[in-house]
Amino acid sequence: METRRIGIIMNGVTGRMGTNQHLARSIVAIIKQGGIKVGNDMIIMPEPILTGRREHALKDLAEHYGNDACGEAFKYTTDVQGALDGAYGDYEIFFDASGTLQRAGFIEMAVAAGKAIYCEKPTATKTADAIRLAKLVDDAGLKNGIVQDKLWLPGFRKLKMLKETGFFGRILSVKGDFGYWVFSGLDVDQPAQRPSWNYRTEDGGGMMIDMFCHWRYVIDNVFGPVKSLVAWGSTDLPERRNEAGDVFKGTADDSAYAMFLLEDGTMVQFNSSWCTRVRRDDLLTVQVDGDKGSAVAGLRDVVVQSAAETPKPVWNPDISQPIDFHAGWTKVPNNIEYDNAFKIQWEQFIRHVVLDASWDYSLMEGAKGVQLAELGMQSWREKKWVDVTPL
Ligand SMILES: NC(=O)c1ccc[n+]([C@@H]2O[C@H](COP(=O)([O-])OP(=O)(O)OC[C@H]3O[C@@H](n4cnc5c(N)ncnc54)[C@H](O)[C@@H]3O)[C@@H](O)[C@H]2O)c1
Repeated sequence: METRRIGIIMNGVTGRMGTNQHLARSIVAIIKQGGIKVGNDMIIMPEPILTGRREHALKDLAEHYGNDACGEAFKYTTDVQGALDGAYGDYEIFFDASGTLQRAGFIEMAVAAGKAIYCEKPTATKTADAIRLAKLVDDAGLKNGIVQDKLWLPGFRKLKMLKETGFFGRILSVKGDFGYWVFSGLDVDQPAQRPSWNYRTEDGGGMMIDMFCHWRYVIDNVFGPVKSLVAWGSTDLPERRNEAGDVFKGTADDSAYAMFLLEDGTMVQFNSSWCTRVRRDDLLTVQVDGDKGSAVAGLRDVVVQSAAETPKPVWNPDISQPIDFHAGWTKVPNNIEYDNAFKIQWEQFIRHVVLDASWDYSLMEGAKGVQLAELGMQSWREKKWVDVTPL
């Protein structure tokens, strides 16, 4: 059995996404499972080096996760350029989960060093910048990819399976409801649970730039291409408290409401809000209504109701509702094991780099998400429908 090492520079790994999803649940999990098995002859084993600005935080992560994964600390350094130049060993992949506004600079450095590039979304807050970066990596002939994790959520995989097996018949509409209450940090003993930059446009924050990137690839891949959209955003909470304990002004949209019209006429609505209290099955629920059946997906579970099981309600507000609407749905079974969505995509990207396996999630695909967000902001500003032109 051949073991093929793949070196990965993991930048911005001290952040929320970098630590939890990419280091702990993806790379460490892959190492702990014994690498990525290729047939019966080969194992691909990732070897990360952690990079970022804060040496102490990197050291803690490198020791904790390195010992957990392979019994010794991972390498780490604050010298990103040195890591790219090979000063600490040979690393083929550069991964970036730093802040959105830092992404372009790091990608440019990685392109100059000739690395395969994988990064968090979005690559930029403007479509023109996202396209420029995508072209930069393509022109340099470098393998590249963007995180599109939601595609591997069990909920969306089950919806796709239902669609492909014809359960819905003709899909009429899709309703997505996303979000939860993110504390402002202003109330006693109620600290905020997300980074403060999320609420400042000048730091790359905002609901549309954050979530429309996801909605773009989810809609395109599960339901079909988006033709046009109309959107409205709002800064619901004017002030929040940051990590240092200071009060700051919210300058970005913390809720966004959009209707996406697909090329085949399907209407897809998504409400996205950090200022909503959850009374639904999950933090994201998506209802799909078709003429032969409907489904409601959460992150993992999906329930369905076929045409034959559909109750016949009669409008009568003078009596209590006689139908238990929740009881008329059946859970879709877990017929396969669903691994962590980020980990599945990491394994695919590593196979793409090492084995040249096919890969659909390029930086240019990521640019389409930035485009949808930017068009959402244009629609909001101009109060009108806008068309999505091919990039
Ligand atoms: N795929 C998803 O579902 C998802 C979810 C949330 C966030 N994100 C994206 O991931 C990225 C990080 O978000 P987060 O929530 O982890 O934020 P975060 O604030 O927790 O982490 C940002 C990280 O970047 C680092 N950083 C900032 N400036 C840097 C610099 N100049 N050099 C090196 N490192 C620097 C910070 O120290 C921190 O480690 C964002 O682009 C965000 O849009 C993706």
